[in-house]
Amino acid sequence: MPIGEGRTILAIESSCDETAAAVLTGDELRSNVIAGQDVHARWGGVVPELASRAHQENIVPVVHQALEDAGIDRHELDAIAFTQGPGLMGALLVGTCFARSMARSLEIPMVAVDHIRAHALAHFIKDATHRPVPVFPYLNLTVSGGHTLIVVVHAADRMEVLGTTLDDAAGEAFDKGAKLMGLPYPGGPEIDRLASAGDPKAFRLSKPRVEGMDMSFSGVKSSFRQLCLKLEGERPGSVALQKNDLAAVLQHTILNILLGRVEMAVESTGITQVAISGGVSANSGLRARLSQLAERKGWSVFIPPMVYCTDNAAMIGIAGQFLLDAGITSPLDTVPLARTL
Ligand code: KG4
Ligand code: ZN
Repeated sequence: MPIGEGRTILAIESSCDETAAAVLTGDELRSNVIAGQDVHARWGGVVPELASRAHQENIVPVVHQALEDAGIDRHELDAIAFTQGPGLMGALLVGTCFARSMARSLEIPMVAVDHIRAHALAHFIKDATHRPVPVFPYLNLTVSGGHTLIVVVHAADRMEVLGTTLDDAAGEAFDKGAKLMGLPYPGGPEIDRLASAGDPKAFRLSKPRVEGMDMSFSGVKSSFRQLCLKLEGERPGSVALQKNDLAAVLQHTILNILLGRVEMAVESTGITQVAISGGVSANSGLRARLSQLAERKGWSVFIPPMVYCTDNAAMIGIAGQFLLDAGITSPLDTVPLARTL
């Protein structure tokens, strides 16, 4: 049966600092609108209260734009999917309340979607790129600023968590490391850029000792802080002077942790389809090393286009279609959940 059975849905994402809306018919993406929030840059991280206010300002124009780009009227919608969680409570409330009122006024069903599960299903969004899609079961590493976990996706509604971070998310480790170097938020893209010109072996950072497939990044961050302090203590200005090497070392250490867990996951499950998603999957080092590893080991790798890796509503839409296919809808009094899984 084709995903979504020709059903047209509006999807809304508002879990963190992006207000996003998308329209899908079946698995085909018809529009995808994302409004970022510049208000956080000067604070070096997302400020929850500012995020909620920006979502309130953005949600109506973003939804209008998504319908207009798709060339449809709201009365042509068959259902609404929205992010129920996890995320910032105030931010989730904006999307949830909007979805509730719109579903009620149009008298159509709505479906609550788990943001983390949606990241792992982003591979199925169909667009002009016509890329291959994984076949269930596959492994998915979701790496973003808020989450880091590796799961077996047995089916759209059945995911088994193999390992998760015990402290910071991988994206947070990039962002906090970048902040220590005086780089702007979010630091991941900047570290990626600098790392390409640096030597990943120039310094050594301590490695976390974590059992099984769980991960830890807070020790990497502390070890990186100590390294920066030591360098500055020896010679003021050296962090800026050696920023390429420092970025390369930080990135290399984070990627070693992630790729080590991917290898363990393949070995323990025997599943050789490896998919990645989340903002950190934009990292050029991660993409290159994963592709090399896959070629050596004979794995298939799935990395969605960047716009579906970072937070977006298209992934909420595809996850919503899978749920609706399974006959799942949510009551109109559904409330957001700050934590799930
Ligand atoms: O998925 P996402 O847009 O939002 C959530 O956190 O859910 O991920 C944002 C994270 C940030 O921590 C950002 O620094 C990181 O993804 N990121 C990167 C790169 N691009 C974005 N990290 C490393 N290298 C990149 N090129
Ligand atoms: Zn996310």
